Amino acid sequence: MCGIFGVVSSEERVLGPVLIEAAQRLTYRGYDSVGCATLHADGHIDLRKDVGKVEEVAARLDFAAMKGKRGIVQLRWATFGHPSQVNAQPHFDSDGDLVGAHNGNVVNNVELRAQFMAEGMIVRSENDGESCVHAVERYVNQGHDMLDAIRRAFRDLEGDYAFIVGGVSENTLYAFKKGSGLVVGIGEGVTYVSSDLPSILPLTRRILRVRDGEIAVLTPETVTLYHVEDGQPVKREPETVTESMDWAQKGGYAHFMLKEIHEQPQVAGELLHLLDASSDVDAVVARMREAHHVYVVACGTSYHAGLLGAVYLARLAGRPVIPVIAPQFIPQYAPAVNSHDFGVFVSQSGETKDVLNALQAAQRRGMGTASLVNVIGSTLMNETDLYLPLACGYEISVPATKTFMNQAIAFLYLALRMGGHDTGIMAQVPALLEASLAQLGPQLAPLEPALVQRNDLYCLGYGATYPIALEGALKLKEVTYAHCEGMLSTEFKHGPLSAVDDDYPVIFVAGSGDTDLIVSGINEVAVRGGHTIAIGVEDARLRANARTLIRLPESNPLFVPLAATLPLQLLSYRLSVARGYDPDFPRNLSKTLTVD
Ligand code: AGP
Repeated sequence: MCGIFGVVSSEERVLGPVLIEAAQRLTYRGYDSVGCATLHADGHIDLRKDVGKVEEVAARLDFAAMKGKRGIVQLRWATFGHPSQVNAQPHFDSDGDLVGAHNGNVVNNVELRAQFMAEGMIVRSENDGESCVHAVERYVNQGHDMLDAIRRAFRDLEGDYAFIVGGVSENTLYAFKKGSGLVVGIGEGVTYVSSDLPSILPLTRRILRVRDGEIAVLTPETVTLYHVEDGQPVKREPETVTESMDWAQKGGYAHFMLKEIHEQPQVAGELLHLLDASSDVDAVVARMREAHHVYVVACGTSYHAGLLGAVYLARLAGRPVIPVIAPQFIPQYAPAVNSHDFGVFVSQSGETKDVLNALQAAQRRGMGTASLVNVIGSTLMNETDLYLPLACGYEISVPATKTFMNQAIAFLYLALRMGGHDTGIMAQVPALLEASLAQLGPQLAPLEPALVQRNDLYCLGYGATYPIALEGALKLKEVTYAHCEGMLSTEFKHGPLSAVDDDYPVIFVAGSGDTDLIVSGINEVAVRGGHTIAIGVEDARLRANARTLIRLPESNPLFVPLAATLPLQLLSYRLSVARGYDPDFPRNLSKTLTVD
């Protein structure tokens, strides 16, 4: 995800080093381009930007020498428009009197660009950050002051975003928040605004958190907040942050894994905005529709998402898809594929060697390829014919959580589109995830004492919850170091049932419509003394038969596997911490596996 940072100083000075350091602190969010703008006292704006790493672009374009009274730096993570110098941010308005940059997605960008061009404005890029600047320019040209122009621009800009903009005529920066993060810092004769707290804390500990629908007006000495709706000032006192940088980087959570679990509602919403606006969704659907055979190729957590994708595609689009763990694709399918076949390669990192090896084997046979990938600019993204981004931002903890969620959501979206169903229903997903997370803590806490010392358990599911059971088991073993096996619930009686004795824990993930089968499985374990834990929406039979029911909010049955993922992620996290481990960096594991 992009990051933005701005500074307003009482005197003209060299701002380059402050901007470079702020950019470096924002890099954890993921990016492909970086740009700086400084606004001089004489009205001149210096704008330098390009594709590449902060250090490399800063050195090449000499950011360090950039002077001014105000400065903006932006890290771009491509969504609208390919990574390129012209699409990098910040952007000018038509005549170079305004400069601004944004973070997030303006989903009506294409329509807005057409309007701006029809109104005679000079649009230089495809990037939606430029649309934020022109949206303000439109109303400044009509004679409105900056505050009023931003209030009006907000009504035109659809989506979730935050942006910073400044003009040549006053020593002020304006920042607006709708959906994406925005924090203000107050120093001595200098103020700052940024996408996040960690980029501000080394500069000042006096901060103001900007809320959705608020405009922050920064001068060197003051910060004033206004409601975007009515233009009235907001009364909020600055707070002094005493916590450590480490705390701030984790967004106030104890670990990145917990932070990333809680980011899922937001990144799900951002992905859905992107998919709604993307023409590549139809391109991928068309290739899947015309292919003789469709393969979904991935490893680990990404494979589990692909397995769920195969269920959704069969159920909603009538499209049989072959999910395969990447290295097995090479001996089992590669010798038989050809140019009439199509593969969707799924990966958080886009650098997993097992996946890249399978891709090469597929391409040697002329197979068409697409990727679902989180890291923009990764090898997988570059090497496939088409790609869809997962839009999760940086996932720091080794256990994948939010990327699994967005992989699953992307597959569900593709299946709905391919089957001719309304993708509008997906808009319910972020709120469902939010509601699920809100009610899980008190339900999981009583399970901890029963499970924390167990070194052996099972996690079972059926149909669309089978991949969730596999993923839950992977998460549990990855961060607790206990043995946990994921399995099709109906297979348990064919052997593993012999392991069950008093209080032996077996988790059942119940999908809507599969309750009869799940209840049978629960009873087979319960009568042998096992501790049966069901995850599902409220159901009298589940409640009557399972020893513990982890209740999910009511939802469209298609979304139950998504919601059911959350208790397994959170349970894994809690048991890991209770056992004294660091869930972010489990022993022996690496986030990106670039080896065979
Ligand atoms: C899951 O928590 C793991 N980090 C692991 O299984 C991971 O999903 C696998 O190594 C594949 O990685 P990728 O998605 O980056 O290709």
